[in-house]
Amino acid sequence: MCGIIGMIGANSVVPYILEGLRRLEYRGYDSAGISTLVKGVVNRRRAEGKLAKLEKKLKDKPLTGNIGIGHTRWATHGAPNLINAHPHVSGPVSVVHNGIIENHKKLRTDLVASGFVMETDTDTEVVAHLVKYYHDQGLSPEEIMRSIIERLNGAYALVIMIADYPGTLMAARKSSPLAIGYGNEAMFIGSDALALAPMTRRISYLEDGDWAIVGQDYSNIYNAENKQVERPINLTEVSGALIGKGKYRHFMDKEIHEQPEVIGYTLSAFYDPNSGRMKMPELPFDPTLLPKLTIIAAGTSYYAGMVAKYWLEGLARLPVEVDIASEFRYRNSVLPKGGAALFISQSGESLDTLMALRHAREVEQHIISLVNVSESTIARESDIVLKTLAGPEISVASTKAFTTQLVVLLSLAVDWAHKRNFLNKKVSATIMTELSRLPITMAEVLADQGRWKACAHELALAKDVIYLGRGLNFPIALEGALKLKELSYIHAEGYAAGEMKHGPIALLEEGMPVVMVAPYDEWFEKTASNLKEALARGARVILLSDKEGIKRLDDEPAWVFEMPKVHPLIAPILYSLPVQLIAYHTANEKGTDVDQPRNLAKSVTVE
Ligand code: AGP
Repeated sequence: MCGIIGMIGANSVVPYILEGLRRLEYRGYDSAGISTLVKGVVNRRRAEGKLAKLEKKLKDKPLTGNIGIGHTRWATHGAPNLINAHPHVSGPVSVVHNGIIENHKKLRTDLVASGFVMETDTDTEVVAHLVKYYHDQGLSPEEIMRSIIERLNGAYALVIMIADYPGTLMAARKSSPLAIGYGNEAMFIGSDALALAPMTRRISYLEDGDWAIVGQDYSNIYNAENKQVERPINLTEVSGALIGKGKYRHFMDKEIHEQPEVIGYTLSAFYDPNSGRMKMPELPFDPTLLPKLTIIAAGTSYYAGMVAKYWLEGLARLPVEVDIASEFRYRNSVLPKGGAALFISQSGESLDTLMALRHAREVEQHIISLVNVSESTIARESDIVLKTLAGPEISVASTKAFTTQLVVLLSLAVDWAHKRNFLNKKVSATIMTELSRLPITMAEVLADQGRWKACAHELALAKDVIYLGRGLNFPIALEGALKLKELSYIHAEGYAAGEMKHGPIALLEEGMPVVMVAPYDEWFEKTASNLKEALARGARVILLSDKEGIKRLDDEPAWVFEMPKVHPLIAPILYSLPVQLIAYHTANEKGTDVDQPRNLAKSVTVE
């Protein structure tokens, strides 16, 4: 699950490869490395940790060359150290890889038997040796590619450079994405259009099983059957501009504050407030006849799917099943004929979600996706694409992508509820009008963060934190716990408030923080009882509620945050803000790496 790039041009490729790697760091930042060819010799610089360390190394010991490959790593096989950093070399061969070579053990044994010496713990090293093995037998680059592909199992995007071919890069993809960029007197290969956008807007996406031989002014692409094929060259809409933090200390802080604006944009793509009309894309099926919708996603996007289940079942009376992508794919689930599957993904590249999508297609479901990156693999493989207009989300922790996903999903639920005759025009209009006001309400919540910071100061000392929510706000409790874990490394768990008494209550002890996501709604009285149960056991309750909820309590939680009153259906979107703020400020208190937390990557492209 890494970012890879290759370039062949007329001038030094190193500044361009570095620029590409900067834009690929969201895929992993355990180590980074570059290989180039100078006078037929492989030159390599690698550094453990973030790209900045490699940049420093390159300042001290510069690298030149007009052909090169680069890598930014998220460790799967082998510790995140220097020895395991890509590119991996074998004599004149240099390789960068994104994915997992599943049969690497067998290949390792075969290669060792042929006299190769393994230097790393990675699965990738076998690719470098395998290429050298066939190169030593006098095979051409095309023959080498055909031979190695026959022997590799698993997922891979590869860029390969051989010193004896200083005008050629070789590339291949299976399950991991790879794009070719066409420049002026230069050609590029990269994990995505984002990496290549500063260099060229002319991008061609390789299809699964494709491999390619790329020279300075051409690319020969072959499909999985080794037939030469043409892949269309598109003008990417991805901006090549550098995305900065502006006045904010972290991308996450910036992205949290962008939410009122991007929610407004996203909503305007699906709803016209003047006419009151929904603007949903044409569907290849009739939602009134849909037997079931299966929603599949991972992480935060999965929690968006959980909220959507409440909306779609409650409003549109549509049976909905929500599944974690990595579970769904191998669960042999029962999907009805004529059913639809909705895949939610910020990046559109999560491999678990992509594999689940391909499985759903095999079992003849209509494929809908909800993505933030519109040229992503998941978007390209869907029948219908719903887009969140959140703009690039750089911070590893998802914020604005999540709330914009929720806005689209509620709009979809309202639209289908209306079409399925379960919601009249008046109620639909009320929900959508309230949703249109959400950006203003969100801006109010974001205006003053003094008390969030004070609360975070206390939370930063906690070892464990529990988040509770009920109904529509149960997924927000899960999301709050996930955000706190990934940003501050504090152990946190989210539970359905009513479930606490069935076990988790045993964890409660004097002073343990319990965050309650509890707007005043039809379930509030029950949640208030759970709050009492927590207080009775000495928990320090942090209550997120509105005026009405707070008024109805006769207890005194440690912290009470009064949220603006919104329609109960919209509350999960608004209450996403405080759980983001709590996690963000707690991470700051602890001094963790907010935008790039340890062990994580923005886009998870391994299964
Ligand atoms: C959220 O903060 C996470 N970093 C993570 O759970 C993420 O939502 C998940 O990996 C899914 O990513 P996707 O939406 O790009 O598919």
